[in-house]
Amino acid sequence: MQGWMRRLIIVLLGLGLAGAAHAQQAPNADAAKGPPANFAAPAEPKPNESNADRARTQPGNNAPFWRAVRRSGNEQGFTTLPGPEQGTLIQRFLQYPGSRYTTAGEAWREVRNRWLVPYGGSLILIVLGALALYYWRRGPLGGHEADTGRKIERFTPFERSAHWANAIAFVTLAVSGLVMAFGKFFLLPILGSALFGWLTYALKTLHNLVGPLFAVSLVIVIFTFVRDEFPRKGDWAWLRSGGGVFSGREPPSHRFNAGEKIIFWAGVVVLGLAAVGSGLVLDKVLPGLEYLRADMQLAHLIHATAAVLMMALLVIHIYLGTIGMKGAYQVMRTGYSDEGWAREHHDLWLQDIKAGRIPAQRSGKSPEPAAGPARAQT
Ligand code: HEM
Repeated sequence: MQGWMRRLIIVLLGLGLAGAAHAQQAPNADAAKGPPANFAAPAEPKPNESNADRARTQPGNNAPFWRAVRRSGNEQGFTTLPGPEQGTLIQRFLQYPGSRYTTAGEAWREVRNRWLVPYGGSLILIVLGALALYYWRRGPLGGHEADTGRKIERFTPFERSAHWANAIAFVTLAVSGLVMAFGKFFLLPILGSALFGWLTYALKTLHNLVGPLFAVSLVIVIFTFVRDEFPRKGDWAWLRSGGGVFSGREPPSHRFNAGEKIIFWAGVVVLGLAAVGSGLVLDKVLPGLEYLRADMQLAHLIHATAAVLMMALLVIHIYLGTIGMKGAYQVMRTGYSDEGWAREHHDLWLQDIKAGRIPAQRSGKSPEPAAGPARAQT
């Protein structure tokens, strides 16, 4: 090849490569002009970059700060705040049943918002719906035995005082607790945030004050009624026939029937004491505890679970004690039941009274004058 020809090829190839290289660097005309004067090219994040460095390289990005905060869940830092958890901004990782493995606060939030609120609320609504349906289709239980005019003392003044103190405290706690847990769904849209905020704050304060009153009255109620709440002959037959709620005739029982006993042991004793114990932790009135965040979260989960289950059971008790069973409310209000009512609902108890094994009048006070003789006829 001629020398001039070889040089021409080299020049052309050189121009072609330069053009290709230029095309790679500047694919369009704007880009060819280069970045604007105020443009800061994003820097690659460097490992262990400080928040100040990151603020320079990526203004507004605080990732290193939050990474350090998150690390502090396992490491002690330093703050001037008082208290045993002063150096721990974010709690350690853990997993509650139903939550992800995440920081304790978030795990608590997940259990509350994903399980307790939706499923607890649904359970209470299902029980209320079932009772409403039953009442609508079948009406109140009882009323098959005519009144005889002969009265039996079913609850002494002491038993009634303990019961009603406990019932009033329970209803106060239930209403305030329901507003705190579910109010944002049904009250907030109606009341608006200012009124709802004040109402919830007031109810929360009331809840904290009434809690200890409920605790004391609950223990008194348990001791007052426990001796008649143990399983006895007739309970199994009562349960097998479902208490007669569908046949219309209640099987005989002693002073309390098997249904009352189940609600007593499950709802009043187990769930009641769990709600009270955890509630006293939340109220910070038990001595000797540190009340760390983890303690409070666990106490809250136990409290809310026990309270929701207790409400679901006690709603049945309250239904039967008011509109669900003829004559029941009068018995707890006055303390006296008619012999006819006793025969229909607690025939084994009535037989014990008639046989003289249980006195028909236990307190010193006699029944209302209009009610007839104080003692059941034997
Ligand atoms: C508005 C609320 C309530 C009403 C209307 C109500 C009504 C009644 C009535 C009418 C009785 C008598 C049943 C019978 O003669 O066999 C009774 C018994 C009883 N109540 Fe209540 N009650 C209420 C709340 C509570 C609460 C909150 C508790 C405890 C946490 C409770 C615990 C008991 C116990 C232990 C008995 C003894 C018989 C049994 O075990 O069912 N009550 N209640």
